[in-house]
Amino acid sequence: MKIGTPLYASATRIMLLGSGELGKEVIISLQRLGMEVIAVDRYANAPGHQVAHRAHVINMADPVELRRLVEQEQPHLIVPEIEAIATDELVKIEKEGLAEVIPTARAAQLTMNREGIRRLAAEELGLPTSKYVFADTYEQLVTGVKQVGLPCIVKPVMSSSGKGQSTIETEADIQKAWDYAMSGGRVSKNRVIVEQMIDFDYEITQLTVRANDTQGRIQTYFCEPIGHRQVKGDYVESWQPQPMSTTARQQAQDIARQVTGALGGRGIFGVELFIKGDEAWFSEVSPRPHDTGMVTMITQLQNEFELHARAILGLPVSTELQQTGASAVIYGGMDAKGIAFNNIENALAVPQTDLRLFGKPEAFERRRMGVALAYANDIDTARENAKACAAAVKTSQS
Ligand SMILES: Nc1ncnc2c1ncn2[C@@H]1O[C@H](COP(=O)(O)OP(=O)(O)OP(=O)(O)O)[C@@H](O)[C@H]1O
Ligand SMILES: [Mg+2]
Repeated sequence: MKIGTPLYASATRIMLLGSGELGKEVIISLQRLGMEVIAVDRYANAPGHQVAHRAHVINMADPVELRRLVEQEQPHLIVPEIEAIATDELVKIEKEGLAEVIPTARAAQLTMNREGIRRLAAEELGLPTSKYVFADTYEQLVTGVKQVGLPCIVKPVMSSSGKGQSTIETEADIQKAWDYAMSGGRVSKNRVIVEQMIDFDYEITQLTVRANDTQGRIQTYFCEPIGHRQVKGDYVESWQPQPMSTTARQQAQDIARQVTGALGGRGIFGVELFIKGDEAWFSEVSPRPHDTGMVTMITQLQNEFELHARAILGLPVSTELQQTGASAVIYGGMDAKGIAFNNIENALAVPQTDLRLFGKPEAFERRRMGVALAYANDIDTARENAKACAAAVKTSQS
């Protein structure tokens, strides 16, 4: 493989659609390999904008705006970092040969909607998932809840980070769950998925990489499983490796291999699974680096962003784990612009820790603004230290 020089005719140009904290790290990894990177987001000065060759602000869900920018920048590769993109237009762009979409335009299309990926996993591939029903109206939701049983979870089909998601414990909760889902979806479409609540022992992200081997054939590689804790559908801490029984580990890899194989292309995927004893259920998959995978910035020789960069460029990868580690999220703690982060010297005085502050221009109470990382000989110490480091960071208005 040949790599040119950024900003010259020989450059390999890569466009990130979505330039948050995950995109920022992908951009840094790509630039280390000499790529020319164009960062796109819906607002100015997004984390990835701050480290890219060029930055653009557009509505990525608008097919006209998206195509105009692709025609202007002529990227060789388009790398989606978020779900809310005009993916039908990406399919056309890929078909016309304007650019290659990572991992594929179809993967972006299927995973932006819970229905696409759930039907692929459960109905086409026959993988174990929670029982589920889709509903377009309140009446259908009532029937759906009866079908999957209580307790269950309602989610807008187009939503992420737990938005619009709630649990139904008794029939009295149904109206509230419907109203909440209608307020939290990404688009005006009313569809929700009702899922049976899985009583899992723990949940994992199985980072899975589809990358070329030395013969140029695509192979599937697995990172050590990542355990994580979610609050209201959003991750608050993660650790790696998550101890698993041999059977459960095998099941998880098996499911991950099938799902990522069906989506195709090259790149990293975050396959989310629920585990109980030796049993594994597929939950969902991101065809891109995963937020819980930020822990790999301290645990792996090649972190999830470097793995993504290498895989999409057709280069060989190593998913080797170097050490046990953990990550803990740092929140804004307030609604304000241009906030300050204090007490950093004490945060980093916690042994074997590191910190990423994303540089987001605007904070919200529960917005993820940074992450603390820790390594240790055991998971408990790593988790304690990551949390201590995160907790020591104090935000203020300025
Ligand atoms: N069927 C289920 N049974 C049990 N727990 C569930 C189920 N569905 C979701 N959860 C819990 O809610 C969390 C978030 O769900 P899910 O991953 O579907 O939402 P999301 O909005 O896509 O979140 P994110 O974007 O952060 O991945 C899961 O990680 C899990 O802890
Ligand atoms: Mg999820």
